[in-house]
Amino acid sequence: MDQRHILVTGGAGYIGSHMTLALLEAGERPLVIDNLSTGSRAVVPAGVPLFEGNVGDAEFVGRIMDAHPIEAIIHFAASIVVPESVTKPLAYYGNNTANARTLLDCAIKRGVPHMVFSSTAAVYGEPERTPVEEDDPTKPINPYGRSKLMVEWMLADVAQAHPFSYAALRYFNVAGADPQGRTGQSTPNATHLIKVAVEAALGKRPGLDIYGTDYPTTDGSCIRDYVHVSDLAQAHLDALRYLRDGKPSITCNIGYANGYSVLEVIEVVKRVSGVDFEVRIKGRRAGDPAALIASNQRALSALNWTPHHDDLEQIVRDALAWERRLG
Ligand code: UFG
Repeated sequence: MDQRHILVTGGAGYIGSHMTLALLEAGERPLVIDNLSTGSRAVVPAGVPLFEGNVGDAEFVGRIMDAHPIEAIIHFAASIVVPESVTKPLAYYGNNTANARTLLDCAIKRGVPHMVFSSTAAVYGEPERTPVEEDDPTKPINPYGRSKLMVEWMLADVAQAHPFSYAALRYFNVAGADPQGRTGQSTPNATHLIKVAVEAALGKRPGLDIYGTDYPTTDGSCIRDYVHVSDLAQAHLDALRYLRDGKPSITCNIGYANGYSVLEVIEVVKRVSGVDFEVRIKGRRAGDPAALIASNQRALSALNWTPHHDDLEQIVRDALAWERRLG
């Protein structure tokens, strides 16, 4: 095996910490960069070097790359809250788009051959059909989606111009936690539905607000495709293998091709936790598309991705177990 390192940006965060565990289990040598703005040192496994700083700091990133040969970058570090991107667009274009450019520039100057990029279903905006396929139009309806789509464009241009290949993985709604309880979502003031719902079930917040029940969906609440974070980490390992095999750059949806409404998710959280927490119906939240469901054929066939946790109850059970552990 190539003994160069895999650089995980945002490796002290929710998805990045699952990735680092998966890399270690696969016999890889991860290095973590994280500015600890939302991440936590505690979820970086023992023995994995953590460099505290910003991926937009070329001098900092360059020093790490000069000292450690890097075979691939898995780039998670980003801002991820859709409604926040609407009120703070420049923060999103800075952190997500401009910082990715700096990171790529450092990588290309040093001949790093591969990147796996955390893209998002938000690049589609309000899809014309569901399940949405990768070649369907990308018309993001919020700054978050646009900040990520611009990085996809940059990657495509860079891969044309340099000896470099990438996998852009368009995540749908990532949720759950490591089934062995080693890491999970620790983000303070989380806004994501399943995290908020399990906090409500454990009495950590006074119930949950539903943002809109007047969407053109079966029960009026928004529909999303919830994917277990451990299956998502596995998709990155599969993408890494794909790129190492010398295959061409690729863009893949990562979801289960299954949609659940907000009301259905809340019902599952109530059932699994046994707690009937308070739910309040509010108006729509800015930037929310009505329905987002992945076609995952490309990930299954090209990456050979095999999901093992395609089960909303398991996602909720694992999220609850981690939330209890957080205390
Ligand atoms: N929701 C509520 N109440 C809450 C939280 C969420 O009703 O307290 C609703 C939202 O309005 C939305 C759905 O639950 O309809 C899911 O919302 P999340 O905040 O959990 O996730 P988003 O769909 O807004 O965004 C997430 C990721 C993005 C990604 C997107 C892709 O944060 O990075 O999924 O589908 F792009």
